[in-house]
Amino acid sequence: MSTALYTDLSAYYDLMCADIDYQSQSDCVRRLHHIFGNQGLQHIDLACGTGPHIQYFLQYAYQCRGLDLNQPMLDIAQQRCPQATFTQGNMANFAVQEKADLITCFLYSLHYCQDISMLKDCFKCVFEALSPGGMFCFNSVDKTQIDNCKSEQHYAQFEGSEFKFSSAWHYPGQGNLQSLLLSIDKNTDGQQRSWQDRHSMVALDFNELQSLLKPYFEVSVFQHDYSKLVEWDNHSGNAIFACVKRY
Ligand SMILES: C[S@@+](CC[C@H](N)C(=O)[O-])C[C@H]1O[C@@H](n2cnc3c(N)ncnc32)[C@H](O)[C@@H]1O
Repeated sequence: MSTALYTDLSAYYDLMCADIDYQSQSDCVRRLHHIFGNQGLQHIDLACGTGPHIQYFLQYAYQCRGLDLNQPMLDIAQQRCPQATFTQGNMANFAVQEKADLITCFLYSLHYCQDISMLKDCFKCVFEALSPGGMFCFNSVDKTQIDNCKSEQHYAQFEGSEFKFSSAWHYPGQGNLQSLLLSIDKNTDGQQRSWQDRHSMVALDFNELQSLLKPYFEVSVFQHDYSKLVEWDNHSGNAIFACVKRY
């Protein structure tokens, strides 16, 4: 598995994500936290990457910490958000001294737990790290709804080069492993360079996911639309999960 995008190519990460509306995602989760959470302002973003969500949570007066496996991503995050604290670590094996009121994990990053056992470890760590009534919020994709023929493209220009970014899910049809396929094509004055990443991720359906969460959390599921809060229709393959810690 190559994950160069988060190490050698981390300088291109924000360019790849330039079309993502981080503000609306952050606004939506803040709203969910107001509705379901405990009103505290301690926030941890798991797999925080270059810190694009933390930037907004700081503006909402949260005290933010970011955790990510890859230091090059954290270096960019620290530059972007000097007021936040960033730690290199694994979301399936972390502990905190000061509990959090809100723990987030955006952009399907929870699936970087590479198997069900790692995912369970992550849920245990999140449960331990949350204060009473604290909320864990993330988005997820249901393995049974993945269309292997679909991919998304995004184009950008940067420092005299033209870029094409592509991303696609691949699920082999059985088992608990799916892949995220990412590619970058760079054209500088006719000179082409290409990189391909294949990221191994845990695959599960939303029933499995909810039963893993239920021992720890009261779970509410919403349509994958950050512009309005609509209850999940029990069918869509992408959803937002708001999980309140059980006492
Ligand atoms: C798709 S990026 C998402 C970054 C950011 N949350 C965003 O929305 O732009 C996934 C991030 O997960 C991080 N990551 C992968 N596996 C991880 C793990 N086991 N624990 C913590 N972070 C991890 C990668 O380093 C990368 O920064």
